Amino acid sequence: MILIKNAKQILTLEGAARKEGRRVLDQDLSVLSAHAILIEKNKIKWIGPQQKIPKPFFKKIKKEISAKNKIIMPTFVECHTHTVFAGERYTEFEMRNTGVSYQEIASRGGGILSTRKAIVEIPKVDLLKLTQKRVDQFTRQGVATIEIKSGYGLDLENEIKCLEVMKKLKGANIIKTFLGAHAIPKEFGNGKEYLDFLTEFVFPEVKKKKLAERVDIFIEKGFFSKEEGRQYLRRAQKLGFDLVVHADQLSLSGGTDLAVELGALSADHIIQIQDKEIKKLANSNVTGVLLPLADLYMKCAYPPARKLIDAGARVAISTDFNPGSSPSQDIQLTGLLARLEMKMTLPEVIVAYTLGAAYALNRQSLEGSLEVGKKAQMLFLEDSYRGLFYSSTETCVTHRFFEDRLEKLDK
Ligand code: NIG
Ligand code: FE
Repeated sequence: MILIKNAKQILTLEGAARKEGRRVLDQDLSVLSAHAILIEKNKIKWIGPQQKIPKPFFKKIKKEISAKNKIIMPTFVECHTHTVFAGERYTEFEMRNTGVSYQEIASRGGGILSTRKAIVEIPKVDLLKLTQKRVDQFTRQGVATIEIKSGYGLDLENEIKCLEVMKKLKGANIIKTFLGAHAIPKEFGNGKEYLDFLTEFVFPEVKKKKLAERVDIFIEKGFFSKEEGRQYLRRAQKLGFDLVVHADQLSLSGGTDLAVELGALSADHIIQIQDKEIKKLANSNVTGVLLPLADLYMKCAYPPARKLIDAGARVAISTDFNPGSSPSQDIQLTGLLARLEMKMTLPEVIVAYTLGAAYALNRQSLEGSLEVGKKAQMLFLEDSYRGLFYSSTETCVTHRFFEDRLEKLDK
């Protein structure tokens, strides 16, 4: 057993977990002082007053780690990223910045389709190297679990290539999502034809090789309609995939409604939703994933986080890291935007980036809070947890405890 002692505070987030991540208040961070944590086989075995470690456990302690008066909290969960990509989209950025819309660029064969060219060309080993570097960039900031979507291959061979790269990544728990339905490749006449191809030829391969546990689709004008999405996701659900939806990002296209209707794990982006959708989402078990960094880059509105939270919805936040709408992996800036632009309180942001995001990945029984039986994945912070999501250049996160090892994070 490993003993972690001498923490100034431990944020267990137990209160937030009891409320399933909804209507989080300051006290739901559940801050303990003078407490210690016992870890056995990667899991939390006991949390209690440092002076009262039960005798039978005491004897089994093999290693002691002093938290040296630091603050302990759960690791971050990145629940929405497109980390496997090649190339860049510099010119597109400049175009968007001078007034050409994302959809217009896409309809001219740019955007997602231009990243596809880079994916087709890059050898798998090089793609793995690029992607591993990005994973390291996340873990250095205190992330332990990263969801990654395919979606730049857009054919059998290249979608599989991207998913296989994900399987080889190290240093974090990688959750793999099949997002073949990200854009319509030009060899298909329309969305329906392409989705039929995906369900007939790609789903079985992905399933057989266990390359993804989730299926996502981009429901948007110029991409896939709600009706196409319904049929596609139902097929995915039948095969046992969890569902996720890129919903109502650029226009109100019905993605959130569909996510609720089908019992998806999350509805992501949800910028354009109105009171009706907010109510539906709040009354459902679907987590609303907010991606403010993409909203900053896209210069669009931010999702109605306050209304969602006040209505009782559970929300998560994430970077949406991708080469087009969010070419940044900055966790602190993402949380900072949630505070500044979406008016979320610091405890709400902390819970959204841990427990809320764990729910979005259906990993709430494994992580997201520090409780007996959950994974021993934690961060050490110096000074105060109030230093989180405050500066975009400084961080108070100094160490990550992951797979029974304490790592010092470089700044
Ligand atoms: O989440 N909205 C669709 N997909 C991504 C953007 C992907 C890209 O532009 O490469 C997003 O914003
Ligand atoms: Fe995305």
